Amino acid sequence: MKELDEIKKLFEESLGLVKTMEDLNNLRTNFLGKSGHLTTCMKLIKDMSPEDKKSFGVGVNVLKDEVNKGIAEKQVELENLAIEKELADMPKVDLTTPTGKEKGSLHPVTIIEQRLGNIFRSMGFTIEDGNEVETEYNNFEAVNIPKFHPARDMQDTFYLNNGQVLKTHTSASQNRIMRKYGAPLKAIFPGRCFRNEELDASHENTFFQMEGMMIDKNVSISNLIYFMKTMLSEVFEREVNVRLRPGFFPFVEPGFELDCSCPYCGGKGCRVCKHSGWIELCPCGMIHPNVLKMGGIDPEEYQGFAFGLGLSRLVMMTYGFGDIRHLNGKDLKILEQTKLK
Ligand code: PHE
Repeated sequence: MKELDEIKKLFEESLGLVKTMEDLNNLRTNFLGKSGHLTTCMKLIKDMSPEDKKSFGVGVNVLKDEVNKGIAEKQVELENLAIEKELADMPKVDLTTPTGKEKGSLHPVTIIEQRLGNIFRSMGFTIEDGNEVETEYNNFEAVNIPKFHPARDMQDTFYLNNGQVLKTHTSASQNRIMRKYGAPLKAIFPGRCFRNEELDASHENTFFQMEGMMIDKNVSISNLIYFMKTMLSEVFEREVNVRLRPGFFPFVEPGFELDCSCPYCGGKGCRVCKHSGWIELCPCGMIHPNVLKMGGIDPEEYQGFAFGLGLSRLVMMTYGFGDIRHLNGKDLKILEQTKLK
């Protein structure tokens, strides 16, 4: 029994000195191996008296359990240390951070909006912000659409409980901007518009327009045609022609639908222009005197033109999107195609 105590002491001391897996394996052999301390002890049993055999046997087994347990614990401890060391030695990079390949990009609407913004800025226009929630007055009355006018069709407008509306067109910002700057003024105001549309490939309840206004002395339809032609030629990076057809909007007089010669086929006719050679792009006209008056501008002294470019349509045309819903969608594979290189 004295020997068992010594072996136990020796084991505890040796275990304390173990630093590596190799040390641990040696320790295991020294105590549990064929000629290890415990194995040698077991061999003594056969020469003992029956009483000694029993108590010594129990003692050996208890010690064997302790040795096994001690070795197993040490093994876990060494393994953990090895993992910690490996981690500490690893380069300090977060392997989960996205690589450059997944870099984001501006949304196609933003890309085109910024391009148009630069073109208009170079022609002396300022870029204005508009509210998405507007007063009924600004959305309708201030642009000459009185109550009970058919253009106020309840089906199309999202009314809020407080009587305000989600703006149905960027023209809703005309009045604020006229009041802010007075005349003369040259401004564009891109913005999100909302209409209660039945959704399909060419109709969304949320879409983008870009409005423009130029107000000054002696502004005429020629100015309108010049600016639209210049701007569209820049956008499509080729010379385009424009033509005006009559169009009705209560806030312009005269009002037009502006068509642009198809930038894809040069007017010869193709799929994009449905073989007509022209693309309907931009309602516009000379600002109605009532609208100027409501904006605090004297129509006897100043005239102006306004246009409402269908920004979502232009984006679709530019990138060849067949479905307007992609513009508000979350399909990154589709949006990826418009990434700036
Ligand atoms: N606000 C009109 C619309 O959304 C477009 C427009 C703007 C027409 C400016 C004429 C002048 O349909």
